Amino acid sequence: MTYIVTENCIACKYTDCVEVCPVDCFYEGENMLVIHPDECIDCGVCEPECPADAIRPDTEPEMEKWVEFNRKYSEMWPVIITKKDPLPEADANDGKPGKMELFSENPGEGG
Ligand code: SF4
Ligand code: F3S
Repeated sequence: MTYIVTENCIACKYTDCVEVCPVDCFYEGENMLVIHPDECIDCGVCEPECPADAIRPDTEPEMEKWVEFNRKYSEMWPVIITKKDPLPEADANDGKPGKMELFSENPGEGG
C-alpha cells in the first residue's frame, strides 16, 4: 500500500505535506507534487495536512493510474522536503474540474 497525490494538487501545490513525511518521498514538478510509491511507508500523516484534499491511499477505487503517475514523475523530478509558498492561483484553483489540462511535466526546483 502507498499514499499518492491526485489531480487536485495541480495548480495549487500547497506543500504542507512535505514537512510531515518521515521518509522524504515527495517530488516536485512545476505545478504539482507526487509521492514515490516504493518509498512511502504508508504512515498516513500527510493525508490530513493537504488543504486541497489531494492525498489518497491507493486502496480507494481506481487509484492504479495515479500510482503509476506518481511513480513516473517521482523518478523524473527532484525531491522536496521544505514547505514553500503555494502557487499564486492556488486558492482559485482548489477544486476546479479538469485540472489535468493544466498539468506540467516540467520539474520543479525541489529543495
Ligand atoms: Fe510520507 Fe507517510 Fe505520506 Fe507516505 S503516507 S508520503 S511516508 S507522510
Ligand atoms: Fe499538493 Fe496538497 Fe501537498 S496541494 S503539494 S498534495 S499539501
